[in-house]
Amino acid sequence: MGQPLNIGIIGCGTIVAAYLATLPKLKAVKLTTAADLDPARAEAVAQKNPGVRALSVANLLASDQVDLVLNLTIPVAHAEIALQAIGAGKSVYNEKPLAATTREGRTLLDAARAANVRLGCAPDTVLGTGIQTARKAIDDGLVGSPISATATLATPGPEPWHPNPDFYYVPGGGPLLDMGPYYISALVTLLGPVASVIGAASHTRTSRTIGSGPRQGERIPVSTDTHVTGVLVHTSGALSTIFMSFDAVATVSARIEVHGETGSLVVSDPNRFDGDIRLRTLGAKDWETLPVSAGYVESSRGIGLEDLANTAQGHEPRAGGQLAFHVLEVMESLLASAREGKAVAIESRCERPPAVPLS
Ligand SMILES: NC(=O)c1ccc[n+]([C@@H]2O[C@H](COP(=O)([O-])OP(=O)(O)OC[C@H]3O[C@@H](n4cnc5c(N)ncnc54)[C@H](O)[C@@H]3O)[C@@H](O)[C@H]2O)c1
Repeated sequence: MGQPLNIGIIGCGTIVAAYLATLPKLKAVKLTTAADLDPARAEAVAQKNPGVRALSVANLLASDQVDLVLNLTIPVAHAEIALQAIGAGKSVYNEKPLAATTREGRTLLDAARAANVRLGCAPDTVLGTGIQTARKAIDDGLVGSPISATATLATPGPEPWHPNPDFYYVPGGGPLLDMGPYYISALVTLLGPVASVIGAASHTRTSRTIGSGPRQGERIPVSTDTHVTGVLVHTSGALSTIFMSFDAVATVSARIEVHGETGSLVVSDPNRFDGDIRLRTLGAKDWETLPVSAGYVESSRGIGLEDLANTAQGHEPRAGGQLAFHVLEVMESLLASAREGKAVAIESRCERPPAVPLS
């Protein structure tokens, strides 16, 4: 392995702590700098992480200590920051979703290709042992030919615990754009790309109340759908039914199930890296828990950066821009289908990312 990839973080809010816990454990990347619109947040990261410098966004983008910008800003800022980074000759790894719209996402893919830099994107949870063990079970034929899947997120929304939940309730947010990347990236990893979608959507409340932090009790407006449901028609012919809601209380449904001709799988939470995968084959009396057989063991948020750094130049990283763009188009098309009341064809195609051997 050569020199580690030098990372500069832009956006030091809630999720930065998860990356700061992972990055020191990774060999192929090194955190050098941090920036935020609020300089005190970048300063706090530098203070707690020896060797990391706090810079302005402009100075971080100009720094020769940065090979890749880890973009942890809010979704509406993802494209703008990523384009600036690409313009400065840096590779980029965005938090999800890739961008707030497919139009912005397409601009990012084109700009990265033209500048010959890498474009990666969360979620990297699909590289963990949970989803990868499920994928191996499907690829090894344990459920027979895959026919269908379900994906269920049923929560009351993030405002009870997130101190600044505004971005969840504007276009680019909502349960679909916020949590859909985990579920749809997992469905594409398990069953392949999507050819068309049918969606329906609603929102039940026009405002939400912040439940924690300095703004506790403040009401924030809702301008996006908070319950989205739909069907994804995979190019393989398999059908996935999704249910993404910030308008529910709780559920006992599996986060993801996959059903094949001869078996059914209960898949782990796609917002986690690990978790049990359970199989029940036709005629069996009970479920069996499969041994962990694939994926990055004991991984956490940031492993996608290590995977990108270890992917040969000219090859798409597993947590890559093309998969993230396909997922973004699927999500936007579900909302378009809901508005228009008809099926929407998906134009982009992506390869299933290569499987992750047990490592
Ligand atoms: N909070 C979570 O649990 C969580 C989990 C997984 C992924 N994510 C994703 O991580 C991203 C960030 O979420 P968060 O919860 O940390 O948000 P946050 O609002 O807590 O933090 C975002 C930070 O980005 C900064 N910022 C915004 N626009 C900027 C700009 N143009 N230039 C520089 N800095 C800018 C803000 O000042 C803030 O410090 C989102 O894409 C979200 O979907 C969040």
